Amino acid sequence: IQTRASLSPRGGLEEAAGMVPLPVSHESATTANIKAMKETKALVVDTGTGHFKCGFAGDLWPLYVVSPTFRKPTWEAGSNQRETLVGKELQNSSIPSTPISPVRHGTVVDWNSVQDVLKCIFKAEMKIQPEDHAVLMSVPSLCSTTEKGKYAEMLFEGFHMPAIHLAYQSHLSMYSYGKTSALVVESGHGVSYVAPVYEGYILRNITGKVDYAGLDITYYLMKLLNESGNTFTEHQLNTIQDLKEKCCYTSLDLQQDLSLPVEKQQVDYKLPDGHFITVGKERFLCAEALFKPVLFGSQQQGLLQLTLTCLKKCNADVIRKMLGNVLLCGGSTMMEGFAERFQKELATMFPCDCPIIAASPQRKAAVWIGGSILASLNSFQDLWVHRYEYEEHGSTCIFKKCF
Ligand SMILES: Nc1ncnc2c1ncn2[C@@H]1O[C@H](COP(=O)(O)OP(=O)(O)OP(=O)(O)O)[C@@H](O)[C@H]1O
Ligand SMILES: [Mg+2]
Repeated sequence: IQTRASLSPRGGLEEAAGMVPLPVSHESATTANIKAMKETKALVVDTGTGHFKCGFAGDLWPLYVVSPTFRKPTWEAGSNQRETLVGKELQNSSIPSTPISPVRHGTVVDWNSVQDVLKCIFKAEMKIQPEDHAVLMSVPSLCSTTEKGKYAEMLFEGFHMPAIHLAYQSHLSMYSYGKTSALVVESGHGVSYVAPVYEGYILRNITGKVDYAGLDITYYLMKLLNESGNTFTEHQLNTIQDLKEKCCYTSLDLQQDLSLPVEKQQVDYKLPDGHFITVGKERFLCAEALFKPVLFGSQQQGLLQLTLTCLKKCNADVIRKMLGNVLLCGGSTMMEGFAERFQKELATMFPCDCPIIAASPQRKAAVWIGGSILASLNSFQDLWVHRYEYEEHGSTCIFKKCF
């Protein structure tokens, strides 16, 4: 047992206030900051590989869901000048640009770009002054101490935020279901996790992680479609992703679906140029990749195998508790039929334990929603790390109050 979850989120949104109590008498907290914080709601930010989700504590859904792909106009290559084209600007821009992803497989690989993208979201989209708001930020569940320090540095030194809290994504996902013990099975855009949380403690030493998720399914779907005679390229990934989300599904019985007459497998999908393509067995074959990543060339374990490996490291009591609370989280678990297939396969692996799978319709934003609940609890408010504490003690106060 490695990590403490400080609070139960039960009763969460009723308590929602979103206001942060203040260290009124401390010298280094400026009066302006204190006044501003009193009047503002805390922010909640989840920096995923595919989307940054931002909004205000106490809300039911993130107000801003923005691709973090940072585009540097091509004509600027070589210059140090940064041009942040994110969100609406990015969609509306016709400037030739090179896409840069600052988060890969859930891990920040380019802190400057993450900061630029967030700055853009705060200022251009949310129209807020970050120095006036406390922020609860999600961090990957197997995040290193150094990375936690980098998050704190960015928020306090880059954005001058008055107070912050960092929380593991698996914890937050679990809170979105109102649970304190669960097996969190999370698959997003670039990374998937199986994280056991027992009575509030995340068992990080047996948490399983694999570096594939929705993006890999999208690439695999493109490959399958091209093998069927199409000529999609990487520039059309957004279209393929849309096709995946609208037309694809996880088969409950692969052999049975494969033996269906072709017309029953097929649906038409309208491309952005108005033409239609017919998609057949690719619809369910692509979804197999989460169970057999070898299909797209990965040697890592499939999601079910990862779950089994994780559970095998738990004692019988914990296994029972975990199997009674399997929580599906992240966008890729939204694939139609995924929950049913996962349930079926898990029940075959553990026939005596009757696994119970929960799949909330909001699970795509489970991390963010859990953060929104946590940050708005009255009992949480002492766990904000204020800037004066950070200035005095450095990152140690983060580890004390957050993890
Ligand atoms: N209905 C759907 N069917 C299939 N896939 C879906 C569906 N809805 C969303 N997705 C996929 O979920 C992924 C995004 O999930 P999510 O927002 O949880 O990821 P993220 O938090 O940005 O990334 P990560 O957690 O991996 O760092 C995308 O690949 C998207 O295509
Ligand atoms: Mg995520």
